[in-house]
Amino acid sequence: MTAQPRVLLIIGGGIAAYKSLELIRLLKKSGIAVRVVLTEAAQAFVTPLTAAALSGDKVYTDLFDLTDETEMGHIILSRQADLVVVAPATANMMSKLANGLADDLASTLLLATDKRVLLAPAMNVRMWHHPATQRNLATLRADGALFTGPDEGDMACGEYGLGRMSEPEAILAAIRLHLGGSEGPLKGRKIVLTAGPTFEPLDPVRGLTNRSSGKQGYAIAERLARDGADVTLISGPVALATPPGVTRIEVETAQDMYTAVHAHLPCDVFIGVAAVADWRARDIASEKQKKTSDNELSVVFVKNPDILESVSKHLEQRPRLVIGFAAETQKLEDYAKAKLASKGCDAIVANDVSEGVFGTGSNAATLVDLDGFTPIPGTTKADVADFLSAYILRRLDTLGQPV
Ligand code: C5P
Repeated sequence: MTAQPRVLLIIGGGIAAYKSLELIRLLKKSGIAVRVVLTEAAQAFVTPLTAAALSGDKVYTDLFDLTDETEMGHIILSRQADLVVVAPATANMMSKLANGLADDLASTLLLATDKRVLLAPAMNVRMWHHPATQRNLATLRADGALFTGPDEGDMACGEYGLGRMSEPEAILAAIRLHLGGSEGPLKGRKIVLTAGPTFEPLDPVRGLTNRSSGKQGYAIAERLARDGADVTLISGPVALATPPGVTRIEVETAQDMYTAVHAHLPCDVFIGVAAVADWRARDIASEKQKKTSDNELSVVFVKNPDILESVSKHLEQRPRLVIGFAAETQKLEDYAKAKLASKGCDAIVANDVSEGVFGTGSNAATLVDLDGFTPIPGTTKADVADFLSAYILRRLDTLGQPV
């Protein structure tokens, strides 16, 4: 990275383009140099003049600007930056990049760059969920592209759902993370956590899962990354965007989750937030099971490995801090205390799930450790994440520096 970090910001043609003007301002304020490229469609929403005034630099729009081709060239433009940011990244831009199309300045730069590319998608909720966009997303992720958002909320078109571009502050946070890591208090700490449900197949089309949305685990991952930790999030199937700066590993079954967790040891802290299925079908049918005339169906289940316990009791690579979650509908504190002992972890966050916690943004939780019970202040999943980050910092400081 050069002394002053440099970002090449490609603004795509979406209504969210106006937010990218605020992003330019925030970048400049943070001491990050920004050079702007506008696609043709973007110019229907913001003008090159506004972007130039805010960035304090020339704005680029045309692939065939011959002066630029001799002076600078699209290759150089794409490589002078430390990070390439696409905001808003429209469905069309994602599609072009996923397929290697280069028919204008923005797409040519994206193909020519040797730098990491961070996309902030923005589109209508149906466009986001369309299989084609999801396919492109998977391709881009596999190609190493980074994502921030999209967020869930009201859309300019009057619909509601996933597809809103992240707020400029969140994009800035993601940019800072990818430019050189956050300088937060957890810098240098490696944290592995699980989140979401698991999916245990019965046959090629059916399976057992649970109502975990993954929101609590994702909120914790986001907070820890914001505090500078090196976060690996091992996630069951959820409909959530990867938080900025977090490495996400996608798994389906408890066994896959177990393997992925153990592949990411050693770490300083392990947090088991996932709602892992305790059981899996012993025999998974290779074909879709047909309906029969029987009124009953018996399936033999076998125990899944307990991931949290296996990490807590690891003989060679036990993390210095292991935290579990316990969702209970009764005798919350008694069960949590028993779980702390039986699983061998250092702390348990006990959640009262008797009143609709799954899939919502809220929580009522207590932390149980050897010192006793601490009610977690606040009611949101973000409150739990804030509390845990501070707790981890305190505990690691007490435990001392890694050897
Ligand atoms: O025993 P119970 O499922 O209530 O424990 C919950 C805690 O244990 C959570 O932290 C969960 O992530 C973890 N767990 C696990 N592997 C399992 C079952 C639970 O890691 N097979």
